[in-house]
Amino acid sequence: MRQILLAGNWKMHKTLAEVKAYFEVFLKGLEKIDLSGKEIMIAPPFTALAYSRKLTEGSPVKLGAQNACWEEKGAFTGEISPMMLKELGIEYVILGHSERRHIFGETDELVAKRVEGVFRLGLTPILCVGETLAERQNQKTLEVVKRQVEIGLKGIKELSQRDLVIAYEPVWAIGTGITATPEQAEEVHSFIRDSLLRLYGEEIANKIRILYGGSVTPENIASLINQPNIDGVLVGGASLDPEKFLKICSVTL
Ligand code: 13P
Repeated sequence: MRQILLAGNWKMHKTLAEVKAYFEVFLKGLEKIDLSGKEIMIAPPFTALAYSRKLTEGSPVKLGAQNACWEEKGAFTGEISPMMLKELGIEYVILGHSERRHIFGETDELVAKRVEGVFRLGLTPILCVGETLAERQNQKTLEVVKRQVEIGLKGIKELSQRDLVIAYEPVWAIGTGITATPEQAEEVHSFIRDSLLRLYGEEIANKIRILYGGSVTPENIASLINQPNIDGVLVGGASLDPEKFLKICSVTL
């Protein structure tokens, strides 16, 4: 049985004062929720990672970063080393998010370098993949996702001892209020599972969690999570409000 991962991506939101106010509400609310079979992760902006760690110490909340470099250290102005993240107690790193790909021009090859480095240096990559609206309309969804998964993971040959997460986030569903239907998402998730099976074999493919992201809300979480190959969610907008994210974390499994 795969443990459900309920993850929040705060993107470029929240000052330290807002982070404090958020966790005051969120951690109190979390105590009243049955978390069996669930893992909770939040990815604040880099500036709030150390403070978030301090505030969430001893709680069930795990932390993630929203990007990372592939090297331990060196002349990489503006980048953050996975070792620096590890030092803060960060476990997950979101990589290849569509905003990194489309706004900042990150290519499949660059994303692959980041995935390989983060994995090698001991953190768990969350590799994001997903098609644009035009690609879906041109029946290119599976082709695009296959390419992003295969290139994104090309540096990871051996997976037996370590964790890896994939997030399917259709670009047309991010921040738009339009969610993929559970059936549309499941079709792509099971296709990704098949790709993982070819890459790593059945046992490992069955262990890798595949998250759905794109306009997830307290209202639609249950129907998504009920699908056999949807092992959690990566939530943007609705994770910024502690009450809404608490409702998402309360989903009955
Ligand atoms: P929204 O939940 O705001 O659509 O964002 C999804 C996302 O990009 C999570 O990484």
